[in-house]
Amino acid sequence: MVNSEKNKINILNSCREEITDEESIRQLDYIDKARSIVSKYEKELGRKPRACVVTFGCQMNARDSEKLLAALKLVGYEETDSEDAEFVIYNTCTVRDNADQRVLGRLGQCSNFKKKNPLMKIAICGCMMQEPGAVEKIKKSYRFVDLIFGTHNIYKFAELLYTTLCSDKMIIDIWEKTDKIVEDLPVVRKYAYKSGVNIMFGCDKFCTYCIVPYVRGRERSRNPKDIIRECEKLAADGVKEIMLLGQNVNSYANDLRKVDKDAMSFAQLLDEVAKVEGIERVRFMTPHPRDFKDDVIDVIANNPKIARHIHLPLQSGSSKILKRMNRSYTKEEFLTLAAKIRERIPDVAITTDIIVGFPGETAADVDDTIDVVNKVKFDNAFTFIYSKRAGTPAAKFEDQVPEKEVKENFDRLLKVVQETAKEQAAKLLGRCEDVLVEGVNEHDSSLMTGRMSNNTLVHFPGGEELIGSFVKVKLTECHGFYYFGEKI
Ligand code: SAH
Ligand code: SF4
Ligand code: F3S
Repeated sequence: MVNSEKNKINILNSCREEITDEESIRQLDYIDKARSIVSKYEKELGRKPRACVVTFGCQMNARDSEKLLAALKLVGYEETDSEDAEFVIYNTCTVRDNADQRVLGRLGQCSNFKKKNPLMKIAICGCMMQEPGAVEKIKKSYRFVDLIFGTHNIYKFAELLYTTLCSDKMIIDIWEKTDKIVEDLPVVRKYAYKSGVNIMFGCDKFCTYCIVPYVRGRERSRNPKDIIRECEKLAADGVKEIMLLGQNVNSYANDLRKVDKDAMSFAQLLDEVAKVEGIERVRFMTPHPRDFKDDVIDVIANNPKIARHIHLPLQSGSSKILKRMNRSYTKEEFLTLAAKIRERIPDVAITTDIIVGFPGETAADVDDTIDVVNKVKFDNAFTFIYSKRAGTPAAKFEDQVPEKEVKENFDRLLKVVQETAKEQAAKLLGRCEDVLVEGVNEHDSSLMTGRMSNNTLVHFPGGEELIGSFVKVKLTECHGFYYFGEKI
């Protein structure tokens, strides 16, 4: 029963009395109202109407999409992966220009389905909608869109959905900011055995290239009691692995501390979440190197339940560029931190994000980045070409780097990143590791695929009954980014 659809909807009408947040109850009332409209669609169609949630961007967007899907399912839609559906919603990302272009391409194609389906409604939400230019573009060139809303009011999706179902006009509801956190919204988890848990929203770091602080607003931390309560509920529902989510998880509670100087720190929170009965593995994403203090390293080192994987975004290895990026650490400070992490947490995998082509970046700056890659030996690195985001300070910097130069530097860096990642890959060969089984191997159905504490995938012979459980696997062969193994 644990994996059933019903149980994956955390909050049902039958347990309203458990809900403490008034706004959340208000939204459940809209779900009831919308349900009566959707049941009429069901009669008309002779089947359940279908809803498709298309997600772009980071883990935070993925978690938001689980809330969108819950509302859609509660009002009576059936989930589908196809955009040939009665309700399609795009949850957008705007961190780089190509993310914007991808969503607009998909949206354009979706209008063809709408021409054939009079019941179809199309919605678009998320980070891109917090940019006034993007909303204007949709209003002007994508007239067929029925609903536009942003990141700050996603909690009122049920209400917006109801309004849209009652109207023929384009509904637009964008808030510039918010200080609100609404608890207890229904969620339909994508995976039965693992879940993200937001610990904070927004970002105050204002790296000069980054749009996130503008589209996600100021840092707002959730109350630790609410976080632990959510983790306990998830554990009771069969979840074994939790990923604590925030743009800067180690800035957690900086805002709460202004009113309560003893507010729980990120290190303490990590420890508390790991204590929740039934939770066997805890991950977090993303920490900022600047705030990565010893207390966090100690908690991880002392607690085997906390994953041996730290995603530590470098962005650049040049202190000059880091300063212009407003990252508040130098090349040397990053190297010291990475060395300390590797020393205190044996077997840890360190992964990173790197941007190439930030304004003013020279080949010598990229040499510095390559030097850091060679020294830290990242287990994996996501390399991005700098994308100019309107409204960020770096967009106004005059020394933008010519495309050809960026491409050359990018290729040079990528080569080293791949070499060092490969070197790191085989380091656990022959060992027995705890693996959380995620599913059947995509290419060979006699194999199962699972994830180790350090986030590496391993494929091994086994049956579907293992999905969602931890097994011990001996790592017998390494193939670059994944292993083959045997269950023991
Ligand atoms: N809060 C996290 C991640 C934010 S976005 C952090 O501080 O690292 C994820 C990644 O996108 C970033 O780490 C960065 O490498 C990349 N990114 C952000 N803005 C970008 C831009 N304008 N151009 C290219 N890459 C960008
Ligand atoms: Fe963007 Fe920097 Fe905030 Fe990360 S820390 S979200 S890169 S502004
Ligand atoms: Fe993208 Fe928004 Fe995440 S811009 S990276 S979806 S916070």
